[in-house]
Amino acid sequence: MRPAAALAILTLLPACSSDSPAASEHGGTSETGTSATGTSGPDTSTGEPTSGEDPEDLTCKHGPWESGKPIAMPELPTGDPAAGYTALLNEDYVSCGIPWELFGFAEDVLGVEEPLPGRTGKNAEVGHAWNVVSLEDGSELVVSNCLQCHAGYFNGELIVGLGKASADFTTSLSDFAEPLPDLPEINQANASFNKFKARAAALGPYSTMMTIGANPAVMFAIVLLSHRDPVTLAWNDEPLYELSTELVLPADPPPWWRVGKKASNFANGMSRRDHRGTMVLASSLCTDSVEEAAPIVDYFADIQAYIASLEAPSYPFAIDEALAADGAEVFECNCAGCHGTYADDPKAESFPNLLIPIDVIGTDPSFARQAAEGGFYHHLRQWFNDSYYGMFSEVVTDDPTPGYTAPPLDGIWATAPYFHNGSVPSIALVLDSTARPTTWRRLDYDSTNFDEAALGWPWQPAMPWSDAPESERKFIYDTTLFGYGNGGHTFGDHLDDTERRALLEYLKTL
Ligand code: HEC
Ligand code: HEC
Repeated sequence: MRPAAALAILTLLPACSSDSPAASEHGGTSETGTSATGTSGPDTSTGEPTSGEDPEDLTCKHGPWESGKPIAMPELPTGDPAAGYTALLNEDYVSCGIPWELFGFAEDVLGVEEPLPGRTGKNAEVGHAWNVVSLEDGSELVVSNCLQCHAGYFNGELIVGLGKASADFTTSLSDFAEPLPDLPEINQANASFNKFKARAAALGPYSTMMTIGANPAVMFAIVLLSHRDPVTLAWNDEPLYELSTELVLPADPPPWWRVGKKASNFANGMSRRDHRGTMVLASSLCTDSVEEAAPIVDYFADIQAYIASLEAPSYPFAIDEALAADGAEVFECNCAGCHGTYADDPKAESFPNLLIPIDVIGTDPSFARQAAEGGFYHHLRQWFNDSYYGMFSEVVTDDPTPGYTAPPLDGIWATAPYFHNGSVPSIALVLDSTARPTTWRRLDYDSTNFDEAALGWPWQPAMPWSDAPESERKFIYDTTLFGYGNGGHTFGDHLDDTERRALLEYLKTL
């Protein structure tokens, strides 16, 4: 056995894959031979037309947004964004990891991840998703940070806060963790590694994703919390509730720059009030007591302030301003009711913070349903609200109804693939549900290979996941798998090609 190799996998480091073969054709444009209808108004309108009104106005006034449930903006504790950025990249909120002396072995196997400019000391020597911390006995530990999933690439640039769409969680952590020998506990860093290994083994069977880019973060939380006493946070080897390998759902890390506008976090809007409690769940791998958790929750007020202060990047390529102006009108009448209005002056913007019921949005219902009363993910809500973290934050999964929140669309062009499960490779396809591929794969994971017309990653059709050879499966997004569905959000289906092109151009300006 090669301990270094096994050790490297244990790091939870999402490896970027660049070895998928290039294909000859670009897919993913909005062209479709089966364009839905030639009618003008959205067929999704739920409003009853009132006689005497101009039908043009009606499109704007009435629409599926009328079924949305507004979520009120919570009061958040004050925090210092600059201190938050420092904490994010220096603290040991994930309190177990790899001894500094062994970290080079992990990098030998995985390749060296890009460091983040501006970091100092040993942090300048490790990749951006790691923090090097000194323990009480002087031993040094390398711990993962939030950028494992929350720093991604666009046009070749590493952007803090962009979800990492190339993260690979398709290998079970336990396959690697279980055979590894414990390190001799000669110092705190070694002891911490042994804990890290054991926790990774507990996560493994319940957090393996079917495809690159699919993210198990919510599963991590559900599994880790099942092993903890909610009040004391003490770890139990036996889970408190039964876990199921049948119900492993994928998520897609959203960009952090939306958070400042959002009243609730997570796709189904389940994190309400102060979001520190749900954010620190990312540290629940090894935080085993309230004494350890309390200072982390404190400085997470700063991290929360940092995340809320972020703004979307600007579109780096050319924009056709006249076409974008036409698109603004299409947006106003078809999209703004759910996704808000946008302006250069932030004060002139508006955002309705709507939770859209599952049957209206129609995207894969598994996550929202499983989180609601009676679903497997509902354990998360029960555990959380009874827990120490529930004193700051609240998890609400079906009040008033299970659904998904309509996100702000700032910088939306940078964040493919789309929907809460990453099932749709481009915005052109978000806007035409009839043209979405059942199974697809990215041509490569090179962020400079961007489809400017469709606003997304170039893709090609793929064979069904289960028919593919084992080594190919992780490249395939198969929307027939549980939780990976790509239906719904039909609000752009009635647009013609001209309107859709204009709308796409407008979205580049956000
Ligand atoms: C293993 C990957 C992973 C790690 C590590 C991780 N996150 Fe996330 N994060 C996600 C995913 C996936 C989601 C989306 C979950 C959903 O919507 O259901 C998310 C959602 C969020 C959101 C909500 C955003 C929104 O628009 O709703 C915030 C805020 C956030 N994470 C902060 C953090 C912080 C702070 C850390 C570090 C302490 C962290 N995350 C660590 C994967 C991760
Ligand atoms: C009834 C409300 C509603 C309307 C109208 C609506 N959307 Fe959405 N939109 C949503 C919701 C809810 C989601 C999240 C769905 C999910 O993730 O499962 C979403 C998701 C999206 C996404 C993907 C976001 C992401 O990060 O993955 C894009 C892009 C988008 N909408 C654009 C539009 C455009 C453009 C229009 C106008 C043609 C529009 N939407 C109309 C509610 C709406």
